[in-house]
Amino acid sequence: MEVLIRDNAEIGCVLGAKIIARMVREKPDAVLGLATGRTPLRLYQELIRMHRDEGLDFSHVTTFNLDEYVGLPATHDQSYRYFMRENLFRHVNIDLKRTHVPDGTAVDLHAECRAYEKKIIDAGGIDLQLLGLGRNGHIGFNEPTGSLRSRTWVKILSEQTLKDNSAVFGSFEGMPKHALSMGIGTIIDARRILLLAFGPAKVRAVEHMVEGPLAAICPGSALQQHPRATVILDENSAAGLHYADHYRWVDSHKLPWQRYD
Ligand code: F6R
Repeated sequence: MEVLIRDNAEIGCVLGAKIIARMVREKPDAVLGLATGRTPLRLYQELIRMHRDEGLDFSHVTTFNLDEYVGLPATHDQSYRYFMRENLFRHVNIDLKRTHVPDGTAVDLHAECRAYEKKIIDAGGIDLQLLGLGRNGHIGFNEPTGSLRSRTWVKILSEQTLKDNSAVFGSFEGMPKHALSMGIGTIIDARRILLLAFGPAKVRAVEHMVEGPLAAICPGSALQQHPRATVILDENSAAGLHYADHYRWVDSHKLPWQRYD
């Protein structure tokens, strides 16, 4: 796991955008796995800026989002399809037909999950999967103790996750308690992984993900098995790491071609 600690989330998000932009420039028809939530918002703004100011071209890019709430249509302002349209897709030249978000309103949710897995395979697999990290260590909506080999399926959200996300819904009771999410096995199949985690609320999850045992109690720890996982942190989320000096040492001794910024 490559651990990059930056002074703050702003610098971390710009770095994350550079990594994604480099992928898109090197492979214009890249397949990107995307995340929603607060963490990647600034990264998406930077991608939009690169599209506008530097001509970053999304016209051949395909995307697959990690998850969607069960029961929310694309028109609902808290659906992840809506989030992606508002925060990225409508600001760049992506072909909407190439963008995929699980359909949380499907009559047969299991069939939708199976079809989503097949669409990823048919697209050639995911080149780079962007992830955030839940306060409890979740990735996608794979909550603690879920199988480390799970595939896209219907997940039950934990109380902690519901509390963390309830502000935007107005009330805890009004929130969907289920989501369709890529499984940990699906995520780990991506050829490259880029996880961002910022702020003091993520400190324990980061510590467990990076330095704790590989264990289903912290789904993010599955990244320890991935051959090409990059984790971008800020000083706050990295505060619990025992080997932070080692990660900084490695980062400062990279060969020129191993650097992103
Ligand atoms: C979002 C997702 C979640 C979030 C995580 C962190 O598509 O799958 O795993 O990445 O809950 O959320 P934020 O970024 O809001 O702290």
